Amino acid sequence: MKTFDVAGTTIAYREVGDGPVALFVHGFPLDSTMWLDQLDLHRGRRRCVAPDLRGFGASDPVVEPVLAVERHADDLVALCDHLEAETVDLVGLSMGGYVALAFAERHPDRLRTLALVDTRAGADTEEAKHRRDLMAVDVTVRGRGPLADELLDALLGPDAALHVRARMRTMVEGTRVDTIVAALAGMAQRPDRLDVLRRTLVPVGVVVGEHDTVTPLAEAEAMADAAPNARLDVIGGAGHMAPMENPVEVATALEVLWASAV
Ligand code: MLT
Repeated sequence: MKTFDVAGTTIAYREVGDGPVALFVHGFPLDSTMWLDQLDLHRGRRRCVAPDLRGFGASDPVVEPVLAVERHADDLVALCDHLEAETVDLVGLSMGGYVALAFAERHPDRLRTLALVDTRAGADTEEAKHRRDLMAVDVTVRGRGPLADELLDALLGPDAALHVRARMRTMVEGTRVDTIVAALAGMAQRPDRLDVLRRTLVPVGVVVGEHDTVTPLAEAEAMADAAPNARLDVIGGAGHMAPMENPVEVATALEVLWASAV
């Protein structure tokens, strides 16, 4: 993996292929390996870049007690500068989608297209914040094994392949507890960003697994309705991890989105 230094930390990223830059932002509590199939499918057309966000994967361990999605968005714009990419095709899954929306709000001129995969634009409800607090206590006390059990059941559709389950477990169990706790706090404090989508004029692709129960179809429809120039793709047979569960259908949706950009 390659690395670059930004605001007191070192971020690791994968880079394959040639062409315009496509930036893939992982979900929680995962890392860039969730995008391996997409990198492989797009490397002939795009310079595919997938970072491990601050504190995750092979990046330096987290120091801040709260990992704000806005902090990640600013790290990503620094990564674009490092790559000398004026604009990018930005793709974010779930927490990566929260980061992508913060990026769209703070750096709209750096977007060529925006793909929001299995995510939502709304803020956490009080109940969701409470669930995050409980998860933070639980992972601190019992460790990552029980969290991986819980997340695999919640995130994957009923037909997820064994290798997808295994890769998910490896990612969850490989994420530091400090990072998990700080990321939960960061996600809990993010604002509603539906208005950001209303102001986003570049092509927006909303992608959702047909069995996604974490960020279901209704959330995807709300985002596609808000953005002036949006398309919606429902991915057959997939849950919340559509790019891993049905990589080819997700890759096709991204290609159609990217082809629509002038
Ligand atoms: C994710 O997949 O990134 C998480 O489900 C996001 C969240 O906890 O809101």
